[in-house]
Amino acid sequence: MHAKLSILALAAVASVQEVCAGPVHRHKHPQKDVVYQYADVVVVTEWVTHTVTAGLDPTPPPAPVVEAPADPSPPPPVSSAPPAPPPAESSAAPPPPPAESSAAPAPPPAESSAAPPPPPAESPAPPPPPPAPVSKRGAAYNDPRLVEAMVSQTDKITWAYNWGSDSGGLQAKIAFYPMLWSPAPDHSGNWDEKAEAAIAAGSNSLLSFNEPDIPSQANMSPLDAANGHKQYMNKYAGRAKISAPAISSSQSPGMGIEWLKNFFDACGGQCQVDFCAAHWYGPGGDDGASLFLDHIKNVHDACQGKPVWVTEFAAESGDVDQFMRRVTEGLDSDEFSFVEKYSYFMVNQGSLMSSPTQLSSFGKIFAGI
Ligand code: BGC
Repeated sequence: MHAKLSILALAAVASVQEVCAGPVHRHKHPQKDVVYQYADVVVVTEWVTHTVTAGLDPTPPPAPVVEAPADPSPPPPVSSAPPAPPPAESSAAPPPPPAESSAAPAPPPAESSAAPPPPPAESPAPPPPPPAPVSKRGAAYNDPRLVEAMVSQTDKITWAYNWGSDSGGLQAKIAFYPMLWSPAPDHSGNWDEKAEAAIAAGSNSLLSFNEPDIPSQANMSPLDAANGHKQYMNKYAGRAKISAPAISSSQSPGMGIEWLKNFFDACGGQCQVDFCAAHWYGPGGDDGASLFLDHIKNVHDACQGKPVWVTEFAAESGDVDQFMRRVTEGLDSDEFSFVEKYSYFMVNQGSLMSSPTQLSSFGKIFAGI
């Protein structure tokens, strides 16, 4: 019984809500329809009231139904409202079982005179919460299975790269960005094929050479890198965002940021560069985090204000957990909005992972776990 009353009450509320659904809905219908709906509500309300009076359920009728909307126009004479036909015997006897809510809807009063209910007080809907920003964190990896283990535990890792032009079978549903690494034939031989495949798969960015300022890495002069960049990267302008060669954080003459400046000079404005890629290695803890963040600002300046991706960085001593907390907070802050992406070195055991499936303490901080 109580349940049934509740259902009826809900039905009545729903009916009121429908009537009050807003100006758009109401305006689509002729006024006559509105009057019908309103009258329907009134009848149901009275029926519920009768039942409560019988003491069968002390629950008061739902408020929205009782509060018949204030009608600015003269209400129809009470007499004219077709009362729910009282069961003949009704008088003294207990009210009929509400069952057949059959309380068939009373026919619409002829004298549609009743004005439609006033529009609901238009309380403006609260603005939707802003969408959560997409995480900038990515996976620098060699073994795709480790990335998959990490990605299965967090949604903070949104992209990946492996210093190669092919993902190596990465299954994780995150963006993969191919890297040319070097113009040497073993890297550039199938570059176009791989770059095209990545773009076709939805990749919107391409990474150029890796640490050309380091002899054991791509090992290129700024002029050679400028020529190589024009040859292999410029052609993708407009189809993907293109990085400058990824520089080390070496402070030695001609390396790091200085190499990047020399590269731009050698390009003479002819290299397609949409963002810069940079690396950093140094001490951990709060001090290391400050050094790191300052360095990234300097990269931004050297990159002529273009966005920055930090594609390798790591604390090599001190408190790595604290370093990770500080740098992730910094890179995600408004002050570092120019940093579009960053990946710690790297997703492997001994760094972000402590086993093939488990994250290290600072791996968890990086993964937001
Ligand atoms: C090298 C990559 C290598 C990566 C992880 C980078 O410094 O350039 O070739 O895959 O380290 O070992």
